[in-house]
This record gives sequence, structure tokens and C-alpha cells, in this order.
Amino acid sequence: MPSVPPYIENLRPYEPGRSIEEVRQAYGLTRVAKLASNENPLGPSPVALAAIAKNLGSVNHYPNGGLDLRVRLAEKFNLKAGNVIAGSGSDSIMAAIVRAYLSPGDEVLTTEAAFIGFQVQAWGSGAEYRTVPYRDWRYDLPAVAAAITAKTKIIYLANPNNPTGTIFSRVEFEEFYRLVPERVLIILDEAYFEYAKANPRYPDSLDYRYDNIVTLRTFSKIYGLAGLRVGYGFANEDVITNLLKVKLPFEPGALAQIAGIAALDDQEFVARTLELNARGLRLMTDSLKELGLDVVPSDANFIMVPLADAREAMWLTEELLRMGVIVRPLGAFGLPHCVRISTGTDEDNRMLLDAMEALYLKEAKCRH
Ligand SMILES: Cc1ncc(COP(=O)(O)O)c(C=O)c1O
Repeated sequence: MPSVPPYIENLRPYEPGRSIEEVRQAYGLTRVAKLASNENPLGPSPVALAAIAKNLGSVNHYPNGGLDLRVRLAEKFNLKAGNVIAGSGSDSIMAAIVRAYLSPGDEVLTTEAAFIGFQVQAWGSGAEYRTVPYRDWRYDLPAVAAAITAKTKIIYLANPNNPTGTIFSRVEFEEFYRLVPERVLIILDEAYFEYAKANPRYPDSLDYRYDNIVTLRTFSKIYGLAGLRVGYGFANEDVITNLLKVKLPFEPGALAQIAGIAALDDQEFVARTLELNARGLRLMTDSLKELGLDVVPSDANFIMVPLADAREAMWLTEELLRMGVIVRPLGAFGLPHCVRISTGTDEDNRMLLDAMEALYLKEAKCRH
């Protein structure tokens, strides 16, 4: 058999969460709530859907590498198209960053239990992967700065962070930035930007147009287009040029690009999603706390619940599945005693909380 380098050999293929249909069949259920992947429970943006329907007949043509979307985003955010890149999800842009900037021998620096998509890309590059522990489930930015070495090439920060849902503030980021050498590329992953931006403490990375920062955003979350795969990034023109050298030439797909452009105009859908999410976060946080659970305060569309141990996290995930609620256990992230729960529709949230009450109030005594 042909061999792969040891840093590929040691990886495990990414396992996506279980689908609604799979769980429905496996457990003989009629209704299943998927609260595992931080998707938009309202479905896709209707404006995006209408644009896709109108353009179905043009998929015999190759797309133009995201150029239309880059131009539209540049206009919306007051940048040049040369400052913008678009790809098949922000995952794909992350892959381009890793490919362009990391070689074996370089170091990547991030926090403990970072977003799994980034972990996978970084491990697959052969670079050394270094982490700094959380502090109260938040980034310890002074500790990240103190861990920079001569070999550090990339620092990855997600704000809000997945899986904790926590943010770092403007002040925290500005103090941190002063300590980072210009040769280090900082990835600011803002997949959940729209959920957090109303928080006055939240730093919008576009306010920091530094040469060594790449901002990543996506249509997968608030715009409800995760299945289409379309995301984008902002950076200095030279950084974008380097990413364009290694990015797969045609992505995002033609319909993904059309949907993304249309979704940007659907601010009514964004507002509706934000309202539902705020209601869901409040209800879930308060109700789970009342059950005696620890809930990490979130600025995103999910909450993280640290439990006593990995056994309890496995038990809870399995019991919720049996009751038709899919949540995300965080073993693969490196937090086996935690689960992450996305907000859903009001009905989904009710279903989760009824199940949690049944498990933690009525069955508490026979759990162990
Ligand atoms: C922090 C973070 N970054 C990036 C992504 C990937 O987004 P996309 O669907 O655009 O690849 C996710 C998705 O879960 C995420 O949580």
C-alpha cells in the first residue's frame, strides 16, 4: 500500500453528527430535534432559496471562483474585491490558509479544544500544534501571547468560540494584538459574528485592518445555507493573493454563490433568526441552570454544558437521542465531559427541556 506521512496516518476521518432521518429510523421516532450542528432552525433564507430556484438552469456552466460574491461583499463592507476571498464554506478558506502558510516545522497556536474543523486542518499540515488552556471557558489571551515562539506561524482564535460560545472583548483583543509579532498570521474565525455583534464588548475584526489578520465568516449559520457550502474571508490584498494561489479554482459552487449574494439582502430573515435565538438561549440557560446544571454563558447559537464526567456526557447524549433530541458530545474536540446544544425552534427547545427535566428530575436517582 502507498503510505502517507505520519501526521496524516495518525488522523481520524471527521465524523459528522447524526442526521434527523438516521435517528428517526434507529429509534423509531416520529419527531426529532437536531440541536447538534449550530444550524439555523428556521431553514434556509427564503430569498436565497428563490434565487437558487431561478438559476437552476445555469449549472452547466463553471462558476467564476467566487468573484461575484467577492465584489458584492466588498461593496457591503466597504473594501476592495482584492481584500475578499470566497470558498466552499469557511472551512475551505481555512484549508487554503493552512496550505499557503504552514510547513512542517512551523507552529500553530490556539486554545485547548479549539473548533474541530481547524484542529483537523492544522494537524494535517505536519506543523506542530500547541494549545493554551481556557480560563473559565474563555480564551486566556495573555497566556496565548506568552506562548508565542520564534516558530509560531499562525494563531487561531474563534470569536464567539466553538464549542464554548464565549467571546473575548475589544479591550482584551487590543491588548493581545500589541503582543503579537507582525510575522504571525492571526485567523479570527467569526462564523457566529451576526449572533454576537450587538454585544458592545464584542470586537468586529473589520475594525482592525491589520496586515496579519484574516477574518473568516460564513453563510452556514445565520443565513441557513450550511448544506450549500459557502463562506468568505477578509484580509490584506497580499494575503488574499496567496490564498487564491492555493484555493481550488472554481469554488464556491455556482448556486452556493448565487444563494450567498441573495442571502445578504435578507435582513428580515436575519432579524427573525436573532430573535428566536435570543429567546432560545435565555430559556435554555435559565431552565438548565434550574435543573442544577452548569451552563457556559453564550454569545452564539448554542450553549455548552460541562457535566461531572465523560460517563455522564455519554449517558445524556444517548438518553436524549432515545427521546428524539440530537446534541453534540465534545469528546472529539477534547472535552469528553461536555456536551454542546444548539438553539432550535421554540418546539425543539421545549422538546429538549422536557427531556432534560425527565432525565434530571425524575431519573436522577437511578442514573449511576
Ligand atoms: C467556529 C467555526 N468556524 C467555522 C465553521 C465552519 O463553517 P463553514 O460551514 O463555513 O465551513 C464552523 C462550523 O461549525 C464553526 O463553528
